[in-house]
Amino acid sequence: MSTGWLDDDTALFVRYGDAFVPRRTEQFDIVCDLLAELPRPSVVELGCGDGRLTERLLGRLHHTRVTAVDTSAEMLALARARLAGFTGRVILHRAGMEEDTALAGGPHGAIVTSLAVHHLDDRDKKALYRHIHGALAPGGVFVMADLVAPVGPAPLALALARWDAEVRAADPAATVPFESARWNTFRFPDPVDRPSGVGEHLNWLARAGFRDVDVCWLYAGHAVFHARRPGRLEEGT
Ligand SMILES: C[S@@+](CC[C@H](N)C(=O)[O-])C[C@H]1O[C@@H](n2cnc3c(N)ncnc32)[C@H](O)[C@@H]1O
Repeated sequence: MSTGWLDDDTALFVRYGDAFVPRRTEQFDIVCDLLAELPRPSVVELGCGDGRLTERLLGRLHHTRVTAVDTSAEMLALARARLAGFTGRVILHRAGMEEDTALAGGPHGAIVTSLAVHHLDDRDKKALYRHIHGALAPGGVFVMADLVAPVGPAPLALALARWDAEVRAADPAATVPFESARWNTFRFPDPVDRPSGVGEHLNWLARAGFRDVDVCWLYAGHAVFHARRPGRLEEGT
């Protein structure tokens, strides 16, 4: 299972994630809104981390069951503790999102992910989108919140500055660790972060066979995408 994510990243992200991710709750709510009408309760979450989005999904969408997948044993242990109140509605599974087992048990009503796909290179992102398309039921949706690469110097400077400003506004105490960990990848490019442009994602998703491919939210180099497998989603497990 390949991941550039490190245990040091886990400790910092778990402590400061609410500040490090611009408008994190708003992003999670957009993801939930895009799944609100789902008649098929089976959801897979890729790169679930410590289960913050999982918790939001299970809390807001009462009929859903989530299989939450991550490579990190440490993150999954934190998620297990966080999600203890949702017994019977959540399964935690250790796997890389590129592995076949990550999407086993389908077809699924929805596949979601937050801040994980940008760790893959472009070739693996394209392969993942094809794999996700094949694992969804007809009419099922893929919703992704993730870091995206601004295109050109002016959009890059804007995203970089807005990201810094959002961290300062969310929690002034997070500013020092954000700076010292060089977390703003637009200011400090890092091989662990491989964000692609919005246009590339839209193109790859369309070429994988998705319809209704769109960006539903975008701010400070972070975006929420929607894509739907053609067909009509039937009620099911
Ligand atoms: C920035 S955290 C995001 C966690 C969570 N989704 C959130 O939004 O709070 C990135 C997570 O992706 C996981 N990850 C990185 N590469 C992965 C891969 N190839 N497959 C599955 N999980 C991966 C890491 O272990 C980490 O938990």
